[in-house]
Amino acid sequence: MMKVVITGATGLVGGALLDRLLRQHPHARFTVLVRSPLRWRALAPSLGSAAARVSPVYTDLRSPASIGHLPELASADLFIHCAADTSFSRPLEQARAVNTAGTQAMLALAQEIGAHRFIYVSTAFVAGTQTGEIAPALRRPVDGWVNAYEQSKFEAEELVRGAAIEWTIVRPATIACDDATGQVSQYNSVHRALHLCYRGLASILSGDEATPIDLVTTEYVTGALARLLLLPAAAGQTYHLCAGVNALPLGELLDRCYAHWRANSDWRRRAIPRPALADLQTYKLFEQAVQETADDRLRVITRALGYFAPQLCYPKQFDTSNTDAVLGFRAPTPASCLDAMIGRLERDHWTGLRSAA
Ligand SMILES: NC(=O)c1ccc[n+]([C@@H]2O[C@H](COP(=O)([O-])OP(=O)(O)OC[C@H]3O[C@@H](n4cnc5c(N)ncnc54)[C@H](OP(=O)(O)O)[C@@H]3O)[C@@H](O)[C@H]2O)c1
Repeated sequence: MMKVVITGATGLVGGALLDRLLRQHPHARFTVLVRSPLRWRALAPSLGSAAARVSPVYTDLRSPASIGHLPELASADLFIHCAADTSFSRPLEQARAVNTAGTQAMLALAQEIGAHRFIYVSTAFVAGTQTGEIAPALRRPVDGWVNAYEQSKFEAEELVRGAAIEWTIVRPATIACDDATGQVSQYNSVHRALHLCYRGLASILSGDEATPIDLVTTEYVTGALARLLLLPAAAGQTYHLCAGVNALPLGELLDRCYAHWRANSDWRRRAIPRPALADLQTYKLFEQAVQETADDRLRVITRALGYFAPQLCYPKQFDTSNTDAVLGFRAPTPASCLDAMIGRLERDHWTGLRSAA
């Protein structure tokens, strides 16, 4: 009987992965390491009767209790580490406390309980300020990272690669929506930026027409993870879970959104123009002007976007050749996800969403 430990099960990826693995492996047992009993109790009923095969253990990555001796963790086969502080705005020490030191603690725990493999869910943006084609074998970016989240996740990857346990690292791109329906259950920087455009509040965005925007679905990421975690060949490998060559140029992404919105006569009447695209220096000037003159709400949103926006001035394309070869399927095209997602967001009035970085 397979036994799996998952961190971050109350989050977007960990929750969807747990749900998928429960369905795919009807005899497997799961232990979820979660920090909030309240959040777990809110989630567990959605798993139905399968929740009986899941044991929660409460711990915080910043101060992990000594839990290695617990029977729930004995003889685990796989340890899947999804939990992270996904906010882009944390100071470096706070991001490191959860994402780097927390990963170190989970590696130690996985080794203590004798797990056979540690699967680390990283991010494609550990590439930081690197541009061009990004290979899975990545060096420390010469000009660093755009935010502390990226850096803390890069540093965690280094710990995983150096650990005395079999490992696999996956690096998803930005998750835009749940699946082909375009349903969005977690709001991130992409949705925030598009919402600003929709409301006519974005006169400038960072990046240029050709900047690749790599978007994936939760379904693809969890499907890939479910496949990779059982593959012997995935040991010691790093995989981009990205659209790669199919990433959507920023200009095309905006054209598609505006074409969709213009089909609505009420929206069209407002004659909202497409934002100009600017280099980093110009975008920073725009940000400064917003901080000096705009209302509080716009200031807050623009400040939040400012932790991610510079990333669009470091255009990159993620190499997915090893992922595509081993999985035998590819990420859905961002164009198809976007079209479904934009329709859905508008129909749902951009509401009812959980918020992440
Ligand atoms: N979503 C994306 O677009 C995306 C893209 C690339 C990579 N990733 C990576 O995928 C992984 C999962 O991301 P996600 O989108 O699912 O994130 P999320 O929805 O923000 O969930 C984060 C999870 O980590 C848990 N967590 C945070 N701080 C913790 C702490 N101090 N101790 C214990 N648990 C803690 C959260 O618990 P609470 O419920 O208690 O807050 C939650 O379960 C992360 O490693 C992220 O870096 C995500």
